[in-house]
Amino acid sequence: MTGPQRGQRRPQRPHDGSRKSRRKPLDPARRAAFDVLQAVSQRDAYANLALPALLAERGITGRDAAFATELTYGTCRVRGLLDAIIGAAAQREPETIDPVLLDLLRLGSYQLLRTRVEPHAAVSTTVDQAAIEFDSARGGFVNGVLRTISTRDEQSWTAELAPNVDSDPIGHAAFVRAHPRWIAQAFADALGAAAGELDAVLAGDDERPRVHLAARPGALTAAELAAAVDGEVGRYSPYAVYLPGGDPGKLDAVRAGQALVQDEGSQLVARALTLAPVDGDNGRWLDLCAGPGGKTALLAALGAQTGARVTAVEQAPHRAALVAENTRGLGVEVLTADGRESGLEPGFDRVLVDAPCTGLGALRRRPEARWRRVPADIPVLAKLQRELLAAAIGLTRPGGVVLYATCSPHLAETVGVVADALRRHPVRALDTRELFAPVDALGDGPHVQLWPHRHGTDAMFAAALQVI
Ligand SMILES: C[S@@+](CC[C@H](N)C(=O)[O-])C[C@H]1O[C@@H](n2cnc3c(N)ncnc32)[C@H](O)[C@@H]1O
Repeated sequence: MTGPQRGQRRPQRPHDGSRKSRRKPLDPARRAAFDVLQAVSQRDAYANLALPALLAERGITGRDAAFATELTYGTCRVRGLLDAIIGAAAQREPETIDPVLLDLLRLGSYQLLRTRVEPHAAVSTTVDQAAIEFDSARGGFVNGVLRTISTRDEQSWTAELAPNVDSDPIGHAAFVRAHPRWIAQAFADALGAAAGELDAVLAGDDERPRVHLAARPGALTAAELAAAVDGEVGRYSPYAVYLPGGDPGKLDAVRAGQALVQDEGSQLVARALTLAPVDGDNGRWLDLCAGPGGKTALLAALGAQTGARVTAVEQAPHRAALVAENTRGLGVEVLTADGRESGLEPGFDRVLVDAPCTGLGALRRRPEARWRRVPADIPVLAKLQRELLAAAIGLTRPGGVVLYATCSPHLAETVGVVADALRRHPVRALDTRELFAPVDALGDGPHVQLWPHRHGTDAMFAAALQVI
């Protein structure tokens, strides 16, 4: 099937004849999804920020909002899989299709392959919108592609298009679970001997994470918070509460600053730093990459119990402002600076480096993220991570501890960075698993790798290094 090439969109709805004027524009839910898809593809918007704002602005609620959410997040997550099927059905590379038309095709094919929407409705709504946005020829092109897609289900398409499971099991898993191959490979590498869990890891990225709260130490206990919010006390972190649903920002405890929204894995990382063995802790604690301040807040609340004071460094001014806001009343000194050249006086007892990273361990939180990241991001971030860790070690006194953490399991961002530090700097690795008790299944050590499918947390990595 050949189709029209890239071309001009209509500036407005056509008024040029009875046939075209019968075209119906998208209903509010599909329109919202389509607009967010375009914002994601053309302006690098984050779907999970853009969609709620747009729904509120347009007053879309209830079932329409739920449908718009399913369409938007679902289409963003499986974009690469949809593109492969669209490419096969259109018999051309998806990159050669007009980007607006491609977003429409993604929306239509998602409905055909992954929802209970009647195929006729999925096709006709998309075709009408293509004709309105462009012209009848392109409406016809969309019609042809979607009708071809609708002749088969997803399993049938993937059976034809996925790499062979025996000769390329990782490529196969990546295709079927709609991930770029390099990300599936990175997860398999990080799983090591447990690479059999790859499918569970990939499947987990399509699940919406449960909201976790942290009860602020000194303000209220997890049990009190759970009772107040009708939640469940967490499995591992003594501060964690799992919310059954609803908007956490509306909870009294969160508004009063007694609880914060924080993944249990992040709570465990902040707590691990406070549990590390440090002789004669003088209470000088540092968070070198602090924005927006979630871990700083927990560290500061824990530090307050023993008289420790936290200094927080953050390079981005708006994120430094968030650190100040999120730690108000906790005595945190916030510095807007590059952590590699903070100008701070060395001699800290405990230092957290929660490094900027690819975020591959938190893909479930950002529907489009898996398709936006590229392998070339890794060396750039790994260099920054090595430099930040080196700076942290330089700011820590002998006997003090640096906790290096990422929310990515990619080996180049995790063990690769730590191995470099162990080679170049006067540090020794502690058994970080001991600092994460009672969590089990943390890997062979000495470092810690959390996994969503095992622990229900983001895939955080942590390594505690003691300065010699
Ligand atoms: C993973 S986030 C930290 C999350 C934070 N610890 C929390 O729990 O809320 C990494 C942060 O490092 C900041 N950052 C990036 N480069 C930096 C640098 N050179 N120096 C200091 N901070 C930096 C980013 O702006 C980002 O806010």
